[in-house]
Amino acid sequence: MQTDRTRDPGKRLLAAAQYVRAGAVFADVGTDHAALPILLCRTGRVQKAYACDIARAPLEAARRNIERAGLAGRIVPLLCDGFSGLEGLGVTDAAVCGMGGELTARLIGAAPFLARDRVRLILQPMTRARFLRSFLLSAGFSIEEEELLSDAGRQYELIVASYTGKTEEWSEAELYLGKKNVARGGEALARLAARRVAHLKNLANGQTGAEKEKTEETIRQIRALAAPAERK
Ligand SMILES: C[S@@+](CC[C@H](N)C(=O)[O-])C[C@H]1O[C@@H](n2cnc3c(N)ncnc32)[C@H](O)[C@@H]1O
Repeated sequence: MQTDRTRDPGKRLLAAAQYVRAGAVFADVGTDHAALPILLCRTGRVQKAYACDIARAPLEAARRNIERAGLAGRIVPLLCDGFSGLEGLGVTDAAVCGMGGELTARLIGAAPFLARDRVRLILQPMTRARFLRSFLLSAGFSIEEEELLSDAGRQYELIVASYTGKTEEWSEAELYLGKKNVARGGEALARLAARRVAHLKNLANGQTGAEKEKTEETIRQIRALAAPAERK
């Protein structure tokens, strides 16, 4: 039987929801069935939300779920690509969950109002988290919070960022693991490090010379950062 995502949003979306500030005007980009805005409005954490999706079918499902939840006056469904259509609506906090890291970065890069209005971004990339961190830091966004969580045997990364205008340079290993995750340590970090090392070992197998040496150095750095966690 399929889970009703609006009744049972799951650990991943519950974790994302806790980083939305109380009283925020919230936008969920790639909302699918609007599970996240419905959760946030039901709990009273936000009064007003935008449920955005690029595709008609999920947005129709979102609209039905919003009506069924009695939240039609508070959650506005929007058919749009990324953040287009949200500028000037007073959005303070926005989520992009369940999409690829490169697409997430592209959507943020195409919406300069996110920097200007200091919108808090709650991001949960399914792939390429290293790429997304690198993009955020070079574009002047500061990574305020990070969390690793597991659900149904799969590990997910959450990244919370806001624009400060200051760019930051992290090492390759820090980009792969996330500085806040490294500081927190523990089993979750060890698991993430093991996944990254396996991926990079695969990559190194197909490389030669300086490129291979660089990948191997990153593997050494990742192991060093995760080592205290492994000893716990
Ligand atoms: C895998 S679902 C994730 C749903 C939900 N955010 C979650 O984490 O469970 C991705 C959703 O993003 C939508 N999407 C993909 N590209 C998009 C874009 N450029 N702008 C807005 N929505 C997009 C898809 O139509 C789909 O409904």
